[in-house]
Amino acid sequence: VKTTVSVIKADIGSFPGHSRTHPKILEVAARRLKEAEGSILIDSYVTHCGDDLELIMTHTKGEDNEEIHKLAWDIFMECAGLAKEMKLYGAGQDLLGDAFSGNVKGMGPGVAEMEFEERGSDPILVFMADKTEPGAWNYFLYKIFADPFSTSGLVIDPSLHDGFTFEVHDVIKKRKILFNTPEESYSLLAYIGAPSRYVIKYVWKRNGLIGASTSTQRLNLMAGRYVGKDDPVMIVRAQSGFPAVGEVIDPFRTPILVAGWMRGSHHGPFMPVGVCDANCTQFDGPPRVICLGFQVCNGKLIGPADMFDDPAYNRVRDQCCELSSLLRAHGPFEPHRLSLEEMEYTALPGVEKQFKDRWEDLPE
Ligand code: F6R
Ligand code: MG
Repeated sequence: VKTTVSVIKADIGSFPGHSRTHPKILEVAARRLKEAEGSILIDSYVTHCGDDLELIMTHTKGEDNEEIHKLAWDIFMECAGLAKEMKLYGAGQDLLGDAFSGNVKGMGPGVAEMEFEERGSDPILVFMADKTEPGAWNYFLYKIFADPFSTSGLVIDPSLHDGFTFEVHDVIKKRKILFNTPEESYSLLAYIGAPSRYVIKYVWKRNGLIGASTSTQRLNLMAGRYVGKDDPVMIVRAQSGFPAVGEVIDPFRTPILVAGWMRGSHHGPFMPVGVCDANCTQFDGPPRVICLGFQVCNGKLIGPADMFDDPAYNRVRDQCCELSSLLRAHGPFEPHRLSLEEMEYTALPGVEKQFKDRWEDLPE
């Protein structure tokens, strides 16, 4: 029987402002998941990254299962109710619908799931981010599964030598495409280098074994207006034919710039932190990522290990602070602020509207 890992998340309210999830909310969510263990679920773990409540669940029901999605939805609704009682900020903000209809996709929450036959020993890494967009994983997934200068196993381990298959989603035109690496890596990069539109959804071994799964929903495209950021999650399998745990987390030592900081309208450095630092502060950020490591054992989650709670990541955190000063010095100027095309889904069009009648045409 196969094991499914489902990571479903939503921002259902936080304190103060958009900085962190309230402990009472985490408690209620953890209790509800524990109650479902033994019936719907095998195991569960609850955490948060910034203002996002993260439900990590294992079961045998496969991806897109109605019972699992309903469980998550009901927990988010109950937690949003609690958030409203406490007048937490943005209570219920990611819950776009009011009636559950079989699947949380398209209703606001982010979902990453993978189903697999457990190997003799099966390490997984769950990444969770705040103040950024789903395409933020593109750079890292490429480094992990396709860059031989990053993952040494691609070169020296025969079990990785064949490469991987990437499924890329076009979130604007709602279509998908597969690329095989290494032979199509330049073509893959031609698309995923534009992470606001092209998002890696899955990575497989060439024999079809699942290696990575991400959340791809874009709330603003769904709602057609600014309703917060998508703050994505990702599951990666490691070792024995997949990149080693250390190869999976090594690329996070590079402080790349991602979109989604302050008002979902700014680029900022992506800072890997331990769970104790998964609270957004400076300028509502900077964008953060946490990583929890588990061994999956007959559906049980052995762990977690807080992977970025580690002095090996101090340097990138310092670099993120440097970059953040440099970007903040731009104030309201690009490239700190997102491009105009991406600003369409922020509060900016509301400002422009006030001046639409004051513009005068220039002579030809
Ligand atoms: C929310 C976020 C924040 C808010 C900002 C303004 O996830 O990233 O930066 O966009 O705090 O929030 P409002 O408009 O609710 O005052
Ligand atoms: Mg968030």
